[in-house]
Amino acid sequence: MSRPAVVFGGPSDEHDISILTGLQACHALSDVHAFYWGKSGEWFQVSPDAEAIDFAAGPPRKSRAVQLIPSLGQGFVSRRPIQISAVLNCCHGGPGEDGTLQGIFDLAGLRYTGPGQAASALGMDKLAFGSAMAASGLPTLDRSLVIDASGVRFEGPYIVKPRFGGSSIGIEVVEDWASALALVATSPFYGSGGVAEPFLAESRDLQVAVRTWPQVELSAIEAPTRSGSGIYSYSQKYLAWGGDVGSGRELPARISDELRSEIVELARRVTVAAGLRGVCRIDFLERDGELWVNEVNTIPGSMAAYLWIDRPLSRRELFTGMLDEALSGPVRSFSVSGADGTALRNAGTIQSKLS
Ligand SMILES: Nc1ncnc2c1ncn2[C@@H]1O[C@H](COP(=O)(O)OP(=O)(O)O)[C@@H](O)[C@H]1O
Ligand SMILES: [Mg+2]
Repeated sequence: MSRPAVVFGGPSDEHDISILTGLQACHALSDVHAFYWGKSGEWFQVSPDAEAIDFAAGPPRKSRAVQLIPSLGQGFVSRRPIQISAVLNCCHGGPGEDGTLQGIFDLAGLRYTGPGQAASALGMDKLAFGSAMAASGLPTLDRSLVIDASGVRFEGPYIVKPRFGGSSIGIEVVEDWASALALVATSPFYGSGGVAEPFLAESRDLQVAVRTWPQVELSAIEAPTRSGSGIYSYSQKYLAWGGDVGSGRELPARISDELRSEIVELARRVTVAAGLRGVCRIDFLERDGELWVNEVNTIPGSMAAYLWIDRPLSRRELFTGMLDEALSGPVRSFSVSGADGTALRNAGTIQSKLS
């Protein structure tokens, strides 16, 4: 029988948080397959009733090794392909969120939650994402690649971020461009490059989740509390709970009606410009009433379940909606031919995955 599959874990810094999100989804839904992606890339089928502690030393006992084969009709394979209606992707960060896994699902002909391959990759690339937002007329801070003197297009102090990073890991504030260059050249977090933007002292984070099914809807807006270092740090995001719930925040954020309407308007435009699908979180920076789009998280911790308070949405409703959305569209098709219009139909399929 064809059932949904929840996938979680993965070779990323957010592996442990992803286990928590995945297990929340397994427990909220009934009758699912559960696939755990180990830190070194192996896949296991595990019990959907497992608890986080069962993963403390790797895959739980009694888990079964499976393969993920990127060929049409294959997908998750034990001795035979396992029948799956759609995949609920709970892998935060790294290849589970950056389009890699999405591409494999496309090749295997599997339907899945969240944005398609291209939009997932865009959401993970701070340089490309910032450029796409700016090109769409959305307010963003200047952002430069930290590679040589050509990046100096605005004044410091700079906040320097790994280009493909997340969870505030490796982020530092530096006074001048020479320090930004030195950081990117020497820090282990910058193997794939870094970007810099003006550091906005005294600004704050404002975050909102969007879901795109059954129609585009926005959650309550939250204002997370920043650390003494002036940025919203990894430990605040995760260590307090391990998944974005217990850390300090103002929810709903106490903001003016005007600011709220502006966030709603901008979030709707970001949703289209970034090709979002499923449940994503859109993060803004705000200072003195001015807003900038900072980033999107296309697979946010706990699917931002804690933000859906006004009308309250249960986890089950949230996750079921994501699966319904994945099931509602065609799988991505790759056959290309010319004159009979197949190529155009394929283009339409890909477009519908992006939007
Ligand atoms: N330009 C900025 N000025 C001031 N603080 C910033 C700026 N950009 C980011 N921050 C702070 O750093 C945190 C992490 O940056 P972010 O761009 O969200 O990276 P990550 O992908 O690692 O979460 C933000 O939540 C915010 O608190
Ligand atoms: Mg962030």
